[in-house]
Amino acid sequence: MKKTIYVKINPTEPLRFQLKEAAEIIKKGGLVAFPTETVYGLGANALDPVAVKSIFTAKNRPSDNPLIVHISKVVDLDVYAVKVSPLVRKLVAQFWPGPLTLVLKKSELIPLSVTAGSQTVTLRLPNHPIACELINLAGVPIAAPSANTSGRPSPTTAQHVLQDLDGKIDMVIDGGPTRVGVESTVLDAISEPPILLRPGEISFESLREYAPNIHLLSQLAVSETQRIRSPGLKYQHYSPSSKVVLIHAQTLKQFKAKAIELAQASIGKKIAVLSLDDLGETVTPYQVVAGTSSRYAALLFDAFRQFEQQGVDTIIAQAISEDGVGRAVMDRLTRAADEEVWI
Ligand code: TXA
Ligand code: MG
Repeated sequence: MKKTIYVKINPTEPLRFQLKEAAEIIKKGGLVAFPTETVYGLGANALDPVAVKSIFTAKNRPSDNPLIVHISKVVDLDVYAVKVSPLVRKLVAQFWPGPLTLVLKKSELIPLSVTAGSQTVTLRLPNHPIACELINLAGVPIAAPSANTSGRPSPTTAQHVLQDLDGKIDMVIDGGPTRVGVESTVLDAISEPPILLRPGEISFESLREYAPNIHLLSQLAVSETQRIRSPGLKYQHYSPSSKVVLIHAQTLKQFKAKAIELAQASIGKKIAVLSLDDLGETVTPYQVVAGTSSRYAALLFDAFRQFEQQGVDTIIAQAISEDGVGRAVMDRLTRAADEEVWI
């Protein structure tokens, strides 16, 4: 067990003083959890294979699942990646800093422990002052997966990080709840056509404006999917200990009827409802209404952890339409679901 140092950021004080110790820890090969605009990341010096290895240990992450390398300046794209295409330059100009992660050909500076042996690297320039200042002060790129135990919901607050990793990491920086709530969009920008590996806030529709031939994984032949799949996609993800039942209903009325039916059929069990739409009545005391697809993304993982802590047996979640960030919400809900119902 380590003592995990907790640092709460004071927005009125300069970041460079508050992040000095965190940067020292990164430089010395330690582990620091920090906020980004998507979720909290568990960071280590990406150029230090020993530090990188300790990320896998702390998270209990399978070693064949590569890490995203976070940079703070666009010029670093050409330091850590090679043969950067005009398409990538267009995407970077449009979406960086921001929640778009690009799979690229790695430069020799990136160790194979970061990429799980692959000659590709994923680069991301986060749109978050704490993340960028930490990378600047450390003076090295930071490898960072989401700061949860592997398989658990990603953390959107420093408290979530501590629930999973207290005593296993050197420091957590509390910058408040993250804005987006689901992880970055991952785009394989070196395959032809480019492939959306993980949907996020930067949507398929907006990427298609720049890469008209972009494909979803589901649009590829099965043999291609096996070849291209992001290593992380094969693992079960985002699962709270409560059972998750995902309901695809044609109308709100049908969803509500199904939620009431399931709640009534589960006497003696704690049922929670997570929905986009307001049901207009209380089905259970454990109810979270998102209102919009962006809010759904922002509160999804927090709701999972909250319900779990309240001892909820079953979470009934409302499926939403797969456009914009809705595609990311549905991706995470589908991966978390123990059961899906279509009505
Ligand atoms: O929003 C985010 O991306 C957050 C914050 C902390 O930046 N990070 C994050 O990292 O979600 P992680 O490790 O939880 O998810 C990275 C995903 C995994 O599915 C992994 O398999 C995939 O990106 N990935 C990483 N490197 C890859 C590569 N070289 N080729 C294909 N997929 C890769
Ligand atoms: Mg993750």
